[in-house]
Amino acid sequence: MNHEALLSARAQAVEISGVRKVFELGRTLHNPINLSIGQPHFDVPEPLKNAAKAAIDAGHNGYTVTQGIPELLTALQADVQSRFPGQNRTVLVTSGTSGGLLLALLAVINPGDEVIIPDPYFVAYPQLVTLVGGSLVVVDTYDDFRLDLNRLHDAITPRTKAILLSTPANPTGAVLDPTTQQELAELCHRRGVLLISDEIYRAFHYDTPPRSPAHYNPEVLVIEGFGKSYGMTGWRLGWAHGPQPLIQAMTKLQQFTFVCAPSIVQYAGVAALNFDVSAILADYKRKRDLVVDALKNDYELVVPGGAFYLFPKVPRGTATEFVNQAIEHNLLMIPGNVFSRRDTHFRISYAASDDTLQRGIAILRRMARQ
Ligand SMILES: Cc1ncc(COP(=O)(O)O)c(C=O)c1O
Repeated sequence: MNHEALLSARAQAVEISGVRKVFELGRTLHNPINLSIGQPHFDVPEPLKNAAKAAIDAGHNGYTVTQGIPELLTALQADVQSRFPGQNRTVLVTSGTSGGLLLALLAVINPGDEVIIPDPYFVAYPQLVTLVGGSLVVVDTYDDFRLDLNRLHDAITPRTKAILLSTPANPTGAVLDPTTQQELAELCHRRGVLLISDEIYRAFHYDTPPRSPAHYNPEVLVIEGFGKSYGMTGWRLGWAHGPQPLIQAMTKLQQFTFVCAPSIVQYAGVAALNFDVSAILADYKRKRDLVVDALKNDYELVVPGGAFYLFPKVPRGTATEFVNQAIEHNLLMIPGNVFSRRDTHFRISYAASDDTLQRGIAILRRMARQ
C-alpha cells in the first residue's frame, strides 16, 4: 500500500516546524551553544514535582472530568475573577496552550474563514489555521513589532472570523501596550471578530504589569499556560477563559480529542498557582538586560518587554544564511523565516545559563564585525 497516497490534504498542507529542524540539527553538533530553545532553562520547582508525585501515589491516575479537576478549576476561576472583576468568564483546563489554541480554532473556524495573524508570529499559528481549514491573512509588524491598527483594520473583511496573537510575543518578545490593547479590543467588538489572545508568557513581563486585551472587552478569548512559567513544558497544562458559549464548545471538542488534561499534572497545577515566580522573573529580566546591552551596538534590535526572546536584524544577507554561518561556530539560533514571511531577523532565546549566553554573545559580536 502507498501510505503517502493515503495522506489527507490537511496532513500534507501542514509543514514541519522550522524550530524542530534546528532542534534535530543541534543533536548532530557536539556541545552546541544552544540559543534556539523555546523553553525555560530551569527545572520544575520542587513543590510542583512533589504535588505530581503525591498525585500518582494517591491514585489520581485515571481520567478527570473534561473541564479539569474541581481543585484546579476553582483556583483558576478565582484567579481569573480577581484579574477581570465584573466579568463573567468561564474557564477550561486544557492540554497545554497548544491544546487550547487548537480547540479555540476548531470551535469557531469554518473552511474558508479568515484568521488574521500579526507577522512575526508563533510558528504554530499558520499551521493550526491550515489544520482547521481556515484561510490565513498576515499583517506585517516590522520594524518595530508594534501592531498598526490601521493595517489591521484594512485586513479585516466580511470573512474575517478571528485575530490570533501572543502578548508577550514569540519570537519578538513584544508586549502590546495598553492603548493598543484597548483599541484592538474595541475594533474586534465593532467588527464582530473574535480576538484570541495567547498569553502563555504572562509571567514574563519585565517593564510593565501584565495586561490583557480582555480587560477592555470581555468577549476576548484568552489562552494561558503553565509550561513556560514553571519549566514544565513537557507536562502539557494550560487553560482558556472567555465567554461561556465558546468555552462550552471547546469543552465538547476536548471531550472527544484530548479527553482531559493529564490528571497528575493538574494537581501540580494547583501547587503552581501557590508558587511565587518573582525570583524567576527577576533572573530573566537580568538576562534580558545582559543580552540586550551586549548586542545593541552591533545589531539593530527592539528591546523586548516580555517572554525570553530577542529578535535582532541580521547584519547582512538572509537570516537563513546568517544562522547557517552561526552553526559553523557551533551556535544554534532560529532564522526569522520560521516565524515570518520575511527572512531578515533571527531569534535567540535567553532562557539559558549565563555561561551559555556569554559564549553566544561573544560569537554574535564577532560575526557582526566580520
Ligand atoms: C506563543 C506561544 N503559544 C503557545 C505555545 C505552546 O505552548 P504549550 O507548550 O503550552 O502548548 C508556545 C510555545 O513555544 C508559544 O511560544
